[in-house]
Amino acid sequence: KAYLILHGANLNLLGTREPQVYGAETLAEINARLHALAQELGVSIRCFQSNHEGELIEALHGARAWADGVVFNPGAFTHTSIALRDAIAAIGIPVVEVHLSNVVAREEFRHRSLIAPVCLGSIAGFGWQSYALALRALAERSGTEVA
Ligand code: DQA
Repeated sequence: KAYLILHGANLNLLGTREPQVYGAETLAEINARLHALAQELGVSIRCFQSNHEGELIEALHGARAWADGVVFNPGAFTHTSIALRDAIAAIGIPVVEVHLSNVVAREEFRHRSLIAPVCLGSIAGFGWQSYALALRALAERSGTEVA
């Protein structure tokens, strides 16, 4: 099995970006931890980050050709992007929404996710471990669950 780990807007700045909210790990450190977890789970992953909505859309389209699922943190596009929602709905492979912070405990404009309704599920509030939990859920999923 192979999975895309997709990071959206401003996540290239992790480590220095509001560490009290998003944690001290850099994006490279998070990706390294996910590679180690993937090895443990016997799956492969590819990691990609972009600050551009269109590139994220194209990464989702591309995943159709090779990925069994996507772990996706769109950053602030979560709250604004109908185009990303439509891309997720279009590709027909499971996408798990992740956030480092607990978005519903923060400002009201972060409470609404436009992508959540078209995702398999959502994990938020566990820092970098939100990604690890999502990857594990996808990798250990039999495909016969209710969702
Ligand atoms: C985030 C939460 C978003 O509201 C915010 O815009 C981000 C990061 C998170 O991982 O907690 O950029 O997706």
